[in-house]
Amino acid sequence: MSWDTIITFMRVSSLSGSAMALAFLQSPTSAKAEEEPILSLSTDSAFHFEVLVSLGEALYGGSDLAPVLGAAKNITPGDFESFSQAFQQLAYKTKDQAQDEEANYDPVNVGETWFSAATYFRRADFYLHNNWTNPLINTLWDEQTKAFDKGLSSLPIPGKRLQIPADNFTVEAIWYEPIPHLYKNQTSKRPTLILGNGYDGAQEDLYHTVVVAALARGWNCLTYEGPGHPTVRRKQNLGFIPDWERVVTPLVDYLLKDRSNVVDKDKLALFGFSFGGYLAARAAAFEPRISAVVLDGGVWDSFEAFSPNLSPELKELFDAGNKEAFDEAGRGLLDNPLVPSQARWGLAQGMWAFNTQSPFNFLQATKKYAVKDFITQIKVPVFVADAESEGFFSGQPQMVKDALGDLATLYTFKGAEGYHCQAGAFSSLNRVMFGWLNKVLPK
Ligand SMILES: *[C@@H]1O[C@H](CO)[C@@H](O)[C@H](O)[C@H]1NC(C)=O
Ligand SMILES: *[C@@H]1O[C@H](CO)[C@@H](O)[C@H](O)[C@H]1NC(C)=O
Ligand SMILES: *[C@@H]1O[C@H](CO)[C@@H](O)[C@H](O)[C@H]1NC(C)=O
Repeated sequence: MSWDTIITFMRVSSLSGSAMALAFLQSPTSAKAEEEPILSLSTDSAFHFEVLVSLGEALYGGSDLAPVLGAAKNITPGDFESFSQAFQQLAYKTKDQAQDEEANYDPVNVGETWFSAATYFRRADFYLHNNWTNPLINTLWDEQTKAFDKGLSSLPIPGKRLQIPADNFTVEAIWYEPIPHLYKNQTSKRPTLILGNGYDGAQEDLYHTVVVAALARGWNCLTYEGPGHPTVRRKQNLGFIPDWERVVTPLVDYLLKDRSNVVDKDKLALFGFSFGGYLAARAAAFEPRISAVVLDGGVWDSFEAFSPNLSPELKELFDAGNKEAFDEAGRGLLDNPLVPSQARWGLAQGMWAFNTQSPFNFLQATKKYAVKDFITQIKVPVFVADAESEGFFSGQPQMVKDALGDLATLYTFKGAEGYHCQAGAFSSLNRVMFGWLNKVLPK
């Protein structure tokens, strides 16, 4: 989720060899508990954030608080293996519980338990992408998918997995419909959210961050994954592509054709989380049938956000196109336990999601993920979220807002609600976002 990782990567890269080792020997995980706006969940700031994400999903049935805090207690700061182990243990234990629940069938029990197991399997996978041949990358994901599907089928109106063909790949999606609304006197056609994640999140996570809240408000939801996203990356071996309308346009076609009986074509909102703030902006610029856009957060230029943080030496290697030397320096960081977790993970995840073994090629690829050439082609209202503890995109949500002028509303989440993507404060996110959507969409 977090792009601040890249900053750290760049700063770390400015130290080399023994200087780097020395710099991190005493404080490998840069504990700054007193600087966090909430109670610290790990002295490793990356783990603190990831545990908070898992806790946050409890609100919408994706986890349970004490079990997550119990797993967190067994995680060693800086140790990816221990993070994975702690969540694997919790995941398999929860899976056993879910199987027991099935014996005395209660759909609510069964659904909650399987959904939690699925979340824990996703967490167990999170730090494993630095080694592509690790079989757990696929086995844990298969477990999460099967567990999540059990959860989906236990819903009063089961979520439906879809494979939607795009030009030369397939979009993975899940369609959700709300229970006919209790307090709104709803006509048969409803507003619909199309939701995509970013650098690392799964469409399954979106169910426990926004979809449950949207269904409660009477919205249809279509979550999706395109190239670079977890399941498409695994099943189709595809990394991110910049021209994201190739992913979203087939989804809009699907909604307006196959779901036209329940989809109000004038209330079609597109949501992008994290790096998905770039993806959604790009798609909306080239897909005029979208009625409103939510960018959480606003991404102006992915490469510009971190290139100033390259050390002079690395910048020189990069600008000179010295791929070999740059790759060597980058790869050296991946397995070095003295490098902060955030930095190691950010680089490993970027290489994996962009489908390249080369740090140089990964950075080069991010140059294509900038909105300045097309952002003004968006002609519908845009909600741009900023977050006080964001760090990485600092200044960029404002640039997106400024380019869009009166079409855009910029909202900054602050204090304890101000983590990247409002981790742990998804209720706040949803209240603010749906308040805005109610205002801008036709009555
Ligand atoms: C990657 O994982 C595979 C399979 O577990 C293992 O054999 C290999 O040694 C690992 N590579 C590295 C560099 O750790
Ligand atoms: C898919 O199509 C795009 C655009 O036409 C092209 O750039 C890309 O190489 C194609 N990918 C594959 C896997 O065929
Ligand atoms: C809902 O709509 C029906 C038909 O238009 C109307 O008779 C009824 O009073 C409405 N109910 C509420 C709670 O507004």
